[in-house]
Amino acid sequence: MSEIRFDNKVAIVTGAGAGLGKSYALEFGRRGAKVVVNDLGAAVDGSGSSHNAADLVVDEIKKAGGQAVSNYDSVSTAEGGEKIVNTALDAFGSADILVNNAGIVRDHSFLKLTEDEWDLVISVHLKGAYNVTKPALASMREKNYGRVVFTSSGVGLYGNFGQANYAAAKMGLIGLMNTLVIESIKHNIKLNAIAPNAASRMTEKVLPPPLFEKLKPEHIAPMVMWLASEQNQDTGMIFNCMGGWYSRTAIMCASGIIIGDGSSTVTAEDIQKNWGVIKSLEGARPLTSIGESFGYVAPLLSKQ
Ligand code: NAI
Repeated sequence: MSEIRFDNKVAIVTGAGAGLGKSYALEFGRRGAKVVVNDLGAAVDGSGSSHNAADLVVDEIKKAGGQAVSNYDSVSTAEGGEKIVNTALDAFGSADILVNNAGIVRDHSFLKLTEDEWDLVISVHLKGAYNVTKPALASMREKNYGRVVFTSSGVGLYGNFGQANYAAAKMGLIGLMNTLVIESIKHNIKLNAIAPNAASRMTEKVLPPPLFEKLKPEHIAPMVMWLASEQNQDTGMIFNCMGGWYSRTAIMCASGIIIGDGSSTVTAEDIQKNWGVIKSLEGARPLTSIGESFGYVAPLLSKQ
């Protein structure tokens, strides 16, 4: 088994001044990557800014013998995204790896959630990933090489009370990834997503103390290193990671049933009658494009 190294690779980690992103940046540095440590230096709710967060991580990487530069732009504007990627290109001449990690929360149950809270959370997580990934992918395509890791969440994949804005953004990232995977197949660019759980300032008030003690950002970093590595050839997958537990999760399509022959009328009562088989997950498997879903109605084409 070969050692996972990032010599001659440039890694951009957004929101790398604290929490999970910091542990990725430090590990990339230890493994030879040139690291762009992006961080706005915001509070958990997205307010405020400071250069300290990014600078301290850069200092730590350099003290350990690694190479890194700071960037303080917000991921939430297209201009910020361009500047983050340009920091990598100007300092190190490349942008081979992007970890979309920057994040904030503004939690309220849906009816109490304001439009501003909705917009702000979407702008950092979902639009933020668009803003940084677009210039990064342009550069990766030129080199015919790239690795992108999106940070989704079990909140989006499975749901959680009081986090509708965050859940929508985190699930939106999966849709973004799915399409970019298809558009990147010919360019040797692998894109995957993680759904992590780990102790950070974001989770210190929500994780029960015994779990907060156990679930370390250092449990998430190995998965990010693997997905960002040249050795990883998988793309378009989502992985749960917490406290040393790693598992694939997926949007699946079940076998279902074809009612009628495509030209006959299907009624609501037909749906009712077949509800058991329609809602069953029997035969479920992940699909790699919407095109593949049309295969399920292929039998209709032979019936004229
Ligand atoms: P954190 O609050 O410790 O770190 C987030 C970092 O992002 C902060 O340093 C902050 O300054 C930076 N940031 C915020 N807005 C920014 C912006 N507009 N531009 C650039 N940087 C910005 O949070 P944590 O826990 O490390 O979260 C990292 C990512 O993992 C987030 O996307 C979060 O939603 C996600 N996540 C974390 C989980 C956990 O258990 N900690 C669970 C599921 C997802």
